[in-house]
Amino acid sequence: MKTEDTMEIEIVVHSSDETIALGEAVGKSLKPGSIIALRGDLGAGKTVLVKGIARALGIEDDPVSPTFVIMNAYEGAMPLYHFDLYRVSGADELYGIGFEEFLFGKGVSAVEWAERIEAELPEYTINIEIAIPEAGGGVSETTRNIRIKGKEEWVSSFRNTAERASRTSTK
Ligand SMILES: Nc1ncnc2c1ncn2[C@@H]1O[C@H](COP(=O)(O)OP(=O)(O)OP(=O)(O)O)[C@@H](O)[C@H]1O
Ligand SMILES: [Mg+2]
Repeated sequence: MKTEDTMEIEIVVHSSDETIALGEAVGKSLKPGSIIALRGDLGAGKTVLVKGIARALGIEDDPVSPTFVIMNAYEGAMPLYHFDLYRVSGADELYGIGFEEFLFGKGVSAVEWAERIEAELPEYTINIEIAIPEAGGGVSETTRNIRIKGKEEWVSSFRNTAERASRTSTK
């Protein structure tokens, strides 16, 4: 990835609801074939963010962590393929079951533990990293630092959409 083409923003959220709202803003900015790579510790909030993406796509079921099945597919405005690669050791394990037909298909893919397939991720991947800040100093247990990194064009247009959305929701 050429660094001059990429852009990174950091957003601080204070609750699961804010993470869901951020996921909804992400979901509204996606198109067929978009890939969202999610990184962050166990319990950081990756699945919570995917719930927001699902809502933006008009999916009624709330995604749950698909830990034991590798992938769940949901029908929405576009199909959503929700991967959880926590138990996967690497891409070799996945090619045997045809994951690339989903990842590079016409739906939207949200991939938890995307680091397991780092080398397979295309340069247009939208990278979202969720970090739990150190406790103390008035930081609440539900605060998360969320970094969104991707193609400059996508990130800057996403930022405008998200800012507009948060202005309307606080009115
Ligand atoms: N700001 C926040 N955003 C998201 N989740 C939060 C937040 N604050 C607290 N939580 C809680 O943290 C947990 C996040 O769980 P979630 O399943 O989304 O994590 P995950 O990153 O998907 O973990 P795993 O790697 O195990 O799949 C939930 O219990 C949620 O209620
Ligand atoms: Mg999860």
